[in-house]
Amino acid sequence: MTRNSSYKLACITRTVYMASRLCRYRWRIMFFCFLCTLVLPMYIYVSMVMIYVLKHGAPGGVVHPVLQTHFTASGLKFSSTLAPHPVKSFWRNELNSGALWNIIQYMIDSQHNPIINPNLAVNPPSISYKTERSRRSGNGCSPDFEINNTMPDFFTLPMQMKDFVTSMYCREYPLIIDPLDVCDGGPLAKNRAPTLILAIKSLTADFVNREAIRETWGRSGRIKTRDGRQRLVRRVFLLGKSKDLHIEEKLQLESDKYGDIIQWEFMDTFFNLTLKDVLFWDWFSRRCPHARFIFKGDDDIFVRTPALLDYLLAEEGNRSFSNGSRRSNKMETFVVGDVINSAGPMRSNGSKYYIPESFFKGIYPSYPGGGGVVYSGSLAHRLLEMSQKVHLFPIDDVYLGMCLQRLGVYPIHHPAFLTFDFPKDEPKEPCANHTFLLVHKRSPAEMFQLWTETSNPSSECRNATLRVETRVEFSRQKSVQNKNTKQSLLQNLINKNYDA
Ligand SMILES: *[C@@H]1O[C@H](CO)[C@@H](O)[C@H](O)[C@H]1NC(C)=O
Ligand SMILES: *[C@@H]1O[C@H](CO)[C@@H](O)[C@H](O)[C@H]1NC(C)=O
Ligand SMILES: *[C@@H]1O[C@H](CO)[C@@H](O)[C@H](O)[C@H]1NC(C)=O
Ligand SMILES: *[C@@H]1O[C@H](CO)[C@@H](O)[C@H](O)[C@H]1NC(C)=O
Ligand SMILES: *[C@@H]1O[C@H](CO)[C@@H](O)[C@H](O)[C@H]1NC(C)=O
Ligand SMILES: *[C@@H]1O[C@H](CO)[C@@H](O)[C@H](O)[C@H]1NC(C)=O
Ligand SMILES: *[C@@H]1O[C@H](CO)[C@@H](O)[C@H](O)[C@H]1NC(C)=O
Repeated sequence: MTRNSSYKLACITRTVYMASRLCRYRWRIMFFCFLCTLVLPMYIYVSMVMIYVLKHGAPGGVVHPVLQTHFTASGLKFSSTLAPHPVKSFWRNELNSGALWNIIQYMIDSQHNPIINPNLAVNPPSISYKTERSRRSGNGCSPDFEINNTMPDFFTLPMQMKDFVTSMYCREYPLIIDPLDVCDGGPLAKNRAPTLILAIKSLTADFVNREAIRETWGRSGRIKTRDGRQRLVRRVFLLGKSKDLHIEEKLQLESDKYGDIIQWEFMDTFFNLTLKDVLFWDWFSRRCPHARFIFKGDDDIFVRTPALLDYLLAEEGNRSFSNGSRRSNKMETFVVGDVINSAGPMRSNGSKYYIPESFFKGIYPSYPGGGGVVYSGSLAHRLLEMSQKVHLFPIDDVYLGMCLQRLGVYPIHHPAFLTFDFPKDEPKEPCANHTFLLVHKRSPAEMFQLWTETSNPSSECRNATLRVETRVEFSRQKSVQNKNTKQSLLQNLINKNYDA
């Protein structure tokens, strides 16, 4: 045999051997192939189903959530000086819910925020904003008598709600009385700007309240703070017009005498109070733009103005000494008051604060109670700008909260802002009148009494410090664990405020 043929033989025997082995494992191999033919199509099927679900959503009418588009400005979310970040954004979810305000706001948002335009294509709103807007061309100041077409329950609404919705596109009301000398308008305007301007909401008929304020906590001029510094304070009263022509004449005389009246050409009603905010921000930006702080509140409260100045100067000092950034920037987010969290619209027909579901759905953002709130002048400029993008809401402090939320600014809660008066069950402290920054509500006679008492504190009360959280507030916090209790408590609080 040649070497070649022996090699061939070896190959053949090897092949036969391999084939017999293959035969031996045939059943196992066949079993595996069988498995493969079964599993592979299943794998392909599952992948295709998954791709379909990801692309189109699960079959059977289950709607997958629409992408959330929050655009709260990036800001100081966690800071010792600011209130905690609101847990929920009231803003986005309920916008396209069929309620008139929500729809209008949704339209304004999509105009100003292209990010949310895609959503608009997915969920077209039930009212065409185009026809809505073409109807409201111009400044929207002719009353809208066709509102019943967009708000089916219009005719069943209380009078003030009707008045509001027929005029809610208008915010251009001329000034009737415009005091020029409240703040220095000359080249030295910045250096002579007041530290604090007191902007007090008043009605033409409230003459006695204004007199008491002028002579007590609302004095205009250099005010001595409690630790002896002198700071410039100015005062203005914010008014609309009344139907009583006789009273209107008296107001003109009052304005000539004191020069502290600002009056606009709109009916001074409760649901028109938001106009006072928006129009005051505009007045402020033109007539007194350098004032460092603004107090805005009612004419039936008492403010310890010297103590308030001390507090504000301390806040300003605190912020300017911390690292790096400019002081004005730090104060741009400053707003303090009695902050109300997770309140919602009042749905009972008879309430002064009644907001029907056809007008607004959702909860309110955190807002400082309108009885008395303080913010920086720089924040007021930003509020004016933001208010152009937030549709008017009939309740003024809620509207402020809406604008603040849009600016990403969180109001500071301070327990010395007693917009609900002293807690009812609090024991009477001898120096209690020296521990608040403001208290609601006080008659003109009480204002004089409080002014005398707080201007010359007894030696016992001279060192009294500002109030801190009280027992009542502590127990309120504890009850937060029970959501229902919390809701009813808040509702009670709101009722109390509203009825006051
Ligand atoms: C709205 O009121 C006008 C006149 O007041 C009327 O012509 C119109 O039909 C009303 N529309 C609806 C939807 O009720
Ligand atoms: C607000 O004032 C305007 C202008 O005077 C008036 O037409 C409208 O009815 C008022 N709104 C409310 C809610 O009273
Ligand atoms: C200023 O900062 C200090 C230390 O953080 C703090 O204890 C104090 O309450 C602050 N004062 C004001 C007015 O915020
Ligand atoms: C600036 O202040 C913030 C908060 O007060 C603090 O977290 C941060 O570390 C400070 N930065 C510097 C550079 O000191
Ligand atoms: C709400 O007020 C209207 C009249 O303004 C009345 O007809 C209606 O019954 C009231 N509804 C409730 C629930 O009180
Ligand atoms: C505090 O002021 C009120 C008036 O608002 C007065 O009635 C009360 O007597 C004062 N309290 C004290 C302890 O002086
Ligand atoms: C008030 O404070 C001053 C200075 O800190 C101190 O001298 C005085 O004894 C204090 N008065 C009371 C009644 O505590």
